[in-house]
Amino acid sequence: MICCTELARNLMLLTRRKFAIGCGAFASSAVVDARFGFGDPAPAGTHLPIPVLVDAAKQENAVKLKVMSGRHAFIEGKPTGTYGYSAPVLGPVIRVRRGDEIQVTVENALDTVTTVHWHGFLAPGHNDGGPQQLIQPGQNWRPVLKVNQPAATLWFHPHPHHDTARQIYMGLTGMIIVDDGSDARLNLPRTYGVDDLPIMLQDRSLDPDGSIDYDNNDLNALDIAYGARGDTIIVNGAIAPVAKVPGGLVRLRLLNAANAQNFDLRFKDRRTFHVIASDGGFLAAPVAVNELMISPAERFEILVDFADGKAVSLETGPDKEMGEFGRVAADGSADYVAVMQFQPTPAMPPLVKRVPNRLIEDAAANATSAVRRRQFVLDSGLCASRPQASAHANMPALIGINGKSFDIGRIDVETKLGTTEIWEITSIGMAHPFHVHGALFRILSIEEAPPPAHLTGWKDTVLVEDKAELLVAFNQPATREHPFMYHCHILEHEDAGLMGQYICS
Ligand code: C2O
Ligand code: CU
Repeated sequence: MICCTELARNLMLLTRRKFAIGCGAFASSAVVDARFGFGDPAPAGTHLPIPVLVDAAKQENAVKLKVMSGRHAFIEGKPTGTYGYSAPVLGPVIRVRRGDEIQVTVENALDTVTTVHWHGFLAPGHNDGGPQQLIQPGQNWRPVLKVNQPAATLWFHPHPHHDTARQIYMGLTGMIIVDDGSDARLNLPRTYGVDDLPIMLQDRSLDPDGSIDYDNNDLNALDIAYGARGDTIIVNGAIAPVAKVPGGLVRLRLLNAANAQNFDLRFKDRRTFHVIASDGGFLAAPVAVNELMISPAERFEILVDFADGKAVSLETGPDKEMGEFGRVAADGSADYVAVMQFQPTPAMPPLVKRVPNRLIEDAAANATSAVRRRQFVLDSGLCASRPQASAHANMPALIGINGKSFDIGRIDVETKLGTTEIWEITSIGMAHPFHVHGALFRILSIEEAPPPAHLTGWKDTVLVEDKAELLVAFNQPATREHPFMYHCHILEHEDAGLMGQYICS
């Protein structure tokens, strides 16, 4: 949903870059033509990078992460400064077992303050790594993470207020796999890097010299209003890579780690694939689809069958939430473009061939237990119903929740441990991916309708176009000193104040 105001039109005039998005009704062809498309000529055949797997149980559940700067060539021969977790860019995939306790040591080797937030991991507030838990340069942070949740694909990233977007854009993104034994029981693809692949989707604006174009002091009002959206899609840090896969079932752990972009995924031959898990873990049963929208911070695990032995591209389409400006093709058309390619290879025998019929026993969401209902209105300032609230003419009006911009000294909501509540989320101005820390929820309704099958499981992030009702389960404690966050996961919105805090006791 895009809403336009005179303000938005003025903002469009400020666009300084090749890439532009804005309000469809005011699209001038000059702006559209100037936008590069995704999928610009890519170095054909770059192999899909597979992050290092850190199997916590094999190292006595002690995990070290060094937050560091490095150099990485997104464009061959043109390295640029980046950030990573124990790597020049991105970070490891950490596998943890349910029931284990992980001693994490995070060392901040950056020259700036950071935090590490375990997105989707259910831990008390003081271990959550939100904006209160700053790790100064040269310092360590040593949380103990007790793994007590079902199998799921989670991730970790920085959360220092006003610098989250830039730090993630520079490369700070890692994945966590929670293993509870169900992979073997259900005979799901589970051989890491072979038929179980992490797929971290991001987009970047790269300058012609290959450098990352992101500067907190240089963000224009449009970057903030719509979030930073780049012209180049990267998968695990590589442009249009190729993955060699077995000619059988392959499991993709999809993570949208982009700052703002929604990816509308499908295979070029429109093959059917199965969604088996969302943010919080397995769905009750696999859901057959041939198209899947994934918004920032969401995860889906899918099973794709490559038994036909044919190479196929994974594509993304126009960001429907961005109207005219969500186009992706280089020529400005609304076509789908390739994100990466899969090449089944006879050298890799299929390990798993059958999609299971059922996955887990999970009762339907039951709202009768909810102890109360709360409203949250997410406003990115574009459709200000009041006169422009900002003193700066070039800045959007107030960006916040329920008319309040984020204040680290203010607790917005108090919840009771062990209860459920209905949270009613309304998006103003555009679709916002809403995320809650320290809790999982079921979607009761979305856009006034029951959720589609693949959105009926446990989640921690949901793209809200207009309105959603969530049944949130609060099972982790958080104090005033270390509250949990809820916010829009368009990172520029979050940094600009589209965030609130809750405690739970
Ligand atoms: Cu990915 Cu506040 O989180
Ligand atoms: Cu938002």
